[in-house]
Formats: sequence, structure tokens, C-alpha cells
Amino acid sequence: MKKHIVLLPGDGIGQEVMDAARAILEAVSDQFGHSFTYQTADIGGVAVDLHGTPLPEDTVRACKKADAILLGAVGGPKWDQLPSHLRPEKGLLGIRKELGLFANLRPIKGFSQLLHASPLKEEVVKGSDLLIVRELTGGLYFGTPSERSEDGQSVVDTLSYERKEIERIVEKAFQSARLRRKHLTSVDKANVLESSKLWREVVEEKKKDYPDVIVQHLLVDAAAMKLVTNPSQFDVIVTENMFGDILSDEASVLTGSLGMLPSASLREDGVGLYEPVHGSAPDIAGKAVANPLAMILSAALMLRYSFGLEEEACAIEEAVEETLKYGYHTADLHIVDGQRVGTKEMTRLVAEAISSQSATE
Ligand code: NAD
Ligand code: IPM
Ligand code: MN
Repeated sequence: MKKHIVLLPGDGIGQEVMDAARAILEAVSDQFGHSFTYQTADIGGVAVDLHGTPLPEDTVRACKKADAILLGAVGGPKWDQLPSHLRPEKGLLGIRKELGLFANLRPIKGFSQLLHASPLKEEVVKGSDLLIVRELTGGLYFGTPSERSEDGQSVVDTLSYERKEIERIVEKAFQSARLRRKHLTSVDKANVLESSKLWREVVEEKKKDYPDVIVQHLLVDAAAMKLVTNPSQFDVIVTENMFGDILSDEASVLTGSLGMLPSASLREDGVGLYEPVHGSAPDIAGKAVANPLAMILSAALMLRYSFGLEEEACAIEEAVEETLKYGYHTADLHIVDGQRVGTKEMTRLVAEAISSQSATE
């Protein structure tokens, strides 16, 4: 299969983990006989430095022509004081919006080898396997006005949603639940927010089309608590943009590290951008210790969702599992036994596991 992939490494550890994903894709194409072509484009702080904007036109054009996009991470202290429109994060929000990537799927499944790596008790973490379906192109992140008054003494952000924006993400979540354990938890703040009342109304309406799916509503504060006290009660969680952002970082604790969580940002036609849930990790950038697995697992999601290469996606996931099984782990994972390795070593081990897997088939 021939596919053209645009790589957006971005800032901080973005470049380091992107190199890892590319190496793994090369291992997959060698084993399975695919031919991927790559084009790198600038986004985020690096794009501000080189082009004076966090999302250059050339980058948007390249992404629109790509079969799929991989993104590392954007942002960092160097650019924190820039005006809002020049911040690296605006580049990420911009590309999501430009491409209409409204559905952000964040699967959270603990690897059994990492049960001890979570600060939560093993009996709490065990059996947790959930999918957060986060709305990605609406809500507080995109509402207008979002500004500070001229005298600087007041601010406004706007949380707005059109009914159809809620409908399409809720539908995506119902469809995802159907492919899993058929349980959907909708998370909102319907006891306070108008947007959440409409959200709940839409979920209630849509559930008539999915009678086989069990629906539960939870307020976001309680959901945050239940995620770390009884995570195995969740199957699919659907929620608006900012709640989904916060809950997914929280849920990463179940896996042992934020460096383990991949994500897929999709629109209806299967076009997708794949990115780890974590950010540019300025505290460890340049030290060659970043965990590349979130990015590598994001590449697996790309093979699955954009290219329909299920076997290849599984090959990556199994290779990760096997590498962890032998005790290899990066410094973010708090494991007593086993061997601590850096980003490159971890990547090499996963690549080797892919090669040996296929050789024995
Ligand atoms: P972060 O996710 O970058 O880091 C949080 C903590 O997790 C840090 O201690 C970091 O070292 C650790 N961590 C994250 N990924 C890791 C990995 N792969 N391996 C090992 N450790 C890892 O969040 P932050 O520090 O709040 O934000 C830093 C910058 O990243 C900010 O500019 C923020 O806006 C940006 N950000 C970008 C994205 C994105 O591009 N998708 C996501 C979140 C944050
Ligand atoms: C994420 C990040 C982004 C978000 C930021 C960097 C804009 O935290 O992808 O989770 O909030 O969507
Ligand atoms: Mn986030």
C-alpha cells in the first residue's frame, strides 16, 4: 500500500518522539511490504520562529493533500509570552479546525505489565479499558468573544455549541460504543451550564437510535472522581472539548504515564491527524529520555483508522506489549524491576519486536 504521510514534529520532545514513530513505520513497511512517503512541515513554536506564524499556509496545504498526519507536540516556555494568536497552541487548534477534525478518540488501556507503574492501587487499575471521545473543534477553545478588555481588568471566554456539532460527536461515540462493550457515559455540567443542558438533550434523543447501548449521564466533577476510584465501570465516555482534555490527562494515570496515551483526531471521511495526548514536555526535552510509546501507538491508530491496516496496527501494539513484558521502560514509568532505557533504545526494541514477530509468522 502506498500512502503519503505529513509529519508535524513541532516543539520540545515532539521531534524526538516523531523520529521514533517514523522508525517504527519503516519497520512496519519493511515487514508488510508497504511504501509510505513522508513530508515534514512546521507547526507551533518552530513555525513561529521560522515563518512568523504557528500555522504556515504551506503546512495547511501539505496536510490537506496528505493521506494522514502525525503530530508530535507544540508549545514551550520560549513562546509563552507571545500574544494569543501567535502562540504555538494556536497552530494545533488551527489545523484541527481547518481539517474539520471534530472527533478526538483517546483510548486508555493499561498494559498488564504496567499495573504497578500507576500510583493507584493495582486492584483499582486492573481491568480498566476505556475510550474518551472528546469533541475537538468547538466549545471554550473556539467560542468568540475570547478577549481581555482594553483596561485589562476583565476577560471573557465563550463556550458555544451548535446542536449539529453535538449531534455528530455523540453519534461517533454511540458508534464507538457499539464496537466495544456498548456502554456510553456522557459527561457534562448540566446542573449549571446551558451548553451541557443541550448536550444532555442531544444524548437522550440519539439514544433512541442505539437501543442496544446503555447510556449513563455523569456530572464532570463526579466523573473525575470515579475515573480514579472505579475506572473499570467506564467503556466509552463522550464529552465536550475542555472536559475531555482534562479527563484524559487524569485517565493517563491508569496507564502509569501520560507518555503512554495515543490519540486519533478524525472527521467523518476517515481523514485523520494522530497525536500523543501529552505535550512538548519542556522539562525533559533534549535529554533523549522521552517515552516514545504514545507517539508510536498513535502511528498504530493511523494505520488502523486512516489506512485500514488492522494487522499492522496490531503488530505495533503487540511489539510494545512485548517490549514492556521484558521490563524495558522509560524514566516516566515508575517500575522497580526491569531496565530503564532512553527514547532511541525503546524505539529500537519495539522495531526489533516487530521484525521478529513477522519473521515467525
Ligand atoms: P506535558 O504533557 O508536556 O507534560 C506534563 C508532564 O508529563 C511533564 O512532567 C512531562 O515531562 C511529562 N511527559 C509528557 N509527555 C511525556 C513523555 N512522552 N515521556 C515522558 N514524560 C512525559 O504538559 P505541560 O508541561 O503542561 O505543557 C508543556 C507544553 O506543551 C505547553 O506549552 C503546552 O501548551 C503544550 N502542550 C501541547 C500539547 C500538544 O501539542 N498536543 C498537549 C499538551 C500540552
Ligand atoms: C491536547 C492539548 C491541547 C488541547 C492544547 C495544547 C491546545 O492539551 O491536545 O490535549 O487542549 O487540546
Ligand atoms: Mn491536553
